[in-house]
Amino acid sequence: ATNRTFTMIKPDATQENHIGGILSMIEAGGFRIVALKKTLLTAERAGEFYAVHKERPFYGDLVKYMSSGPIVAAILEKDNAVADFRTLIGATNPAQAEEGTIRKKYAKSIEANAVHGSDSDENAQIEGNFFFGANEQF
Ligand code: CMP
Repeated sequence: ATNRTFTMIKPDATQENHIGGILSMIEAGGFRIVALKKTLLTAERAGEFYAVHKERPFYGDLVKYMSSGPIVAAILEKDNAVADFRTLIGATNPAQAEEGTIRKKYAKSIEANAVHGSDSDENAQIEGNFFFGANEQF
């Protein structure tokens, strides 16, 4: 079924002028952009977004990194969106990302890994609504 996922282009990728390259790969992959914005997360907002990782050893660094520069948030639509988008972005650790994936091309490290992708339909909805009101989703 056609459904939605949520993505962020992370600070390392926006800093290095990869917004257009990444959005091109997303559209070429068959995803339709439902909502899109460039914004800066405060440490507090980044901490809230990644609250599920609060107990992980990398949480503090992750919050610092995700608030270190602007990100691009987007809601995407496609058949089987969540799973297909995770295939398109590749493994969290770019050293393990497959050829042809966004992280293989653009990620610098396991933390600065260029893009986020939701891990479930439920989280896609929560994460999309974290950034976009109903009047910003088309
Ligand atoms: P993402 O899939 O967006 O969600 C959690 C993020 O934490 C992950 O991408 C990375 O940016 C970051 N991270 C940093 N270190 C790790 C790690 N060891 N394992 C998983 N994620 C990590």
